[in-house]
Amino acid sequence: MKLTYWSHSCFLLETGKHRLVIDPFLTGNPKAPVKADDVKCDYVLVSHGHNDHIGDAVAIAKRTGATVIANYEIAMFCAGQGANVHPLHIGGSRQFPFGRVKLTLALHGSAYQTESGFIYMGNPCGFVITAENKTVYHAGDTGLFLDMQLIGQRQKIDVALLPIGDNFTMGVDDAVAAVEFVKPRIVVPMHYDTFDVIKSDPREFASKAAKTGARIEVLAVGQSLEV
Ligand code: NI
Ligand code: MN
Repeated sequence: MKLTYWSHSCFLLETGKHRLVIDPFLTGNPKAPVKADDVKCDYVLVSHGHNDHIGDAVAIAKRTGATVIANYEIAMFCAGQGANVHPLHIGGSRQFPFGRVKLTLALHGSAYQTESGFIYMGNPCGFVITAENKTVYHAGDTGLFLDMQLIGQRQKIDVALLPIGDNFTMGVDDAVAAVEFVKPRIVVPMHYDTFDVIKSDPREFASKAAKTGARIEVLAVGQSLEV
């Protein structure tokens, strides 16, 4: 399995046969290395309704025929816009042609902002994705919570994608505690430096998290990691 960092919380996950894009915030993202119009994928996973996560999900899904996997509220919203969807909810999992997706808890908000006001998109979530015998935990936007221990206890996490930008999510020190809770083999920091308000130093995170024994991979935007 190959993971490519498309900045913010957006990753491309490629298996032998399928391409998944998680939280495709590309249009309006100053760090995005690709244009939404150029994305080819089979599935789009959306962790919550904030605009910097739902992003281009509907446009990509409609153009490519990709299926949106998200919580029930986001899935129904995307279906209403004409996308193929599969709704899940927290604690539930399902086998897809590429592998299994389970929705996890995330402590955050989930309102989608439109010109005519907010649309509430249910509870935010994270994802545990298992494909080709590898398991990836994408935490979504979240604060630190003790139940992250369960995520690591229920399945061995090969790669944890954790926000470190502070302000809206965990900062560096809480993300280090999250590594201790989840006990992943590899950690990739995300959700930092996209905007000034979430400026954070991934090198500081890497040096503080080194004591956990996990391998910390700070990916440059556009960089890939073979898992
Ligand atoms: Ni958010
Ligand atoms: Mn966010």
